[in-house]
Amino acid sequence: MDLYEHQARGLFQEHGIPVPRAEVTDSPQEAREIARRLGGRVVVKAQVKTGGRGKAGGVKLAADPPAAELTARQILGMDIKGHSVGKVMLAQPVDVEAEFYVSYVLDRAAGRFLAIASAEGGMEIEEVAASRPEAVARIHIDPAEGVTSAKAQEIADAAGLPAQTVDVLVRLWQVLVREDAVLVEVNPLVRTRPGQILALDGKVTLDDNARFRQARWGAEGTVHDDPLEAAAAAKGLNYVKLDGEVGIIGNGAGLVMSTLDVVAGCGARPANFLDIGGGASARIMADGLTVILSDPAVKSVFVNVFGGITACDAVADGIVQALDAVELTKPLVVRLDGNNAVRGRAILDGRAHPLVQQATTMDGAARRAAQLANTS
Ligand SMILES: Nc1ncnc2c1ncn2[C@@H]1O[C@H](COP(=O)(O)OP(=O)(O)OP(=O)(O)O)[C@@H](O)[C@H]1O
Ligand SMILES: [Mg+2]
Repeated sequence: MDLYEHQARGLFQEHGIPVPRAEVTDSPQEAREIARRLGGRVVVKAQVKTGGRGKAGGVKLAADPPAAELTARQILGMDIKGHSVGKVMLAQPVDVEAEFYVSYVLDRAAGRFLAIASAEGGMEIEEVAASRPEAVARIHIDPAEGVTSAKAQEIADAAGLPAQTVDVLVRLWQVLVREDAVLVEVNPLVRTRPGQILALDGKVTLDDNARFRQARWGAEGTVHDDPLEAAAAAKGLNYVKLDGEVGIIGNGAGLVMSTLDVVAGCGARPANFLDIGGGASARIMADGLTVILSDPAVKSVFVNVFGGITACDAVADGIVQALDAVELTKPLVVRLDGNNAVRGRAILDGRAHPLVQQATTMDGAARRAAQLANTS
């Protein structure tokens, strides 16, 4: 899960990394109050989970509280690369002398973390990295050793960062470890005219696999940018939204992955990934159907189940009960195979729903679902 800048800033502050004073709001009137509290002049910053806000007009200086209100009004609701701005952060402006870039990121291929640092931070860092890679230091970190003062010194030296940044580099590593992050980035980390080191912007990505031990993000953790994914997550479903027209329900991640491939091979695009797991109860089937049918892009639905420990007749019972609970609005193609397949198919035949048809093979069912999606 990606955090918003203000959340990253909060973590930095808790771990002793200096940040400018700031507050967050969704109201222009309150922005005026906050500006007054922060001394009048403020930087108004869009809170969106995407980069390049500054260049998109999402970071603006306001000279006084009325200007802060006006600027907040302009930025709230703005669209930045497809992300609508719901909140702004107002931060105290600082007198920037130099901007640096620092980050730690999980390098899966190397089985280590990677420190990336540059003395030429700021909004142009991507260009610096592309045109002058030598200006960006990359140093691997042994996860067992972490970033000690000596390691931080090595990173600072390699990037040409001032010695004062060493303490921040150590603390930033502590943010990564204690908060279970896979990415922490500060761009820019600045030296102010009075010579103070401050994190002016922050990006943190938490490791979703560690969410169980990071209780404070419990409610926050279910925030999905896609409303269908949010609805599915609220029902505890293993659902990922995709761009196509054929809704997919299957049992087992491997089967669902190959179902996506087979549907694509039949000339249609899968609308989602949904693994209902081993149980395949009526409730899970109904929840899955509800989410998939509420996707306006979906033209047909393919339920692909291989009965194992959960036999096909139990799955068919689940589908029949789900059909009573959910109004089916799009054609459903069901392929049941494996344990008790014949009994399962008979149960579905018995229900005789006009929008439900069965196929005995995965390829046949995929072809049918693709055809339905392409002709409706
Ligand atoms: N509190 C502040 N005081 C002075 N200048 C600031 C402050 N916050 C940001 N800036 C300036 O604005 C620039 C852009 O801000 P920031 O890094 O937060 O946005 P961004 O880089 O465009 O966003 P993103 O990192 O999401 O792409 C910074 O590089 C810095 O020069
Ligand atoms: Mg930035």
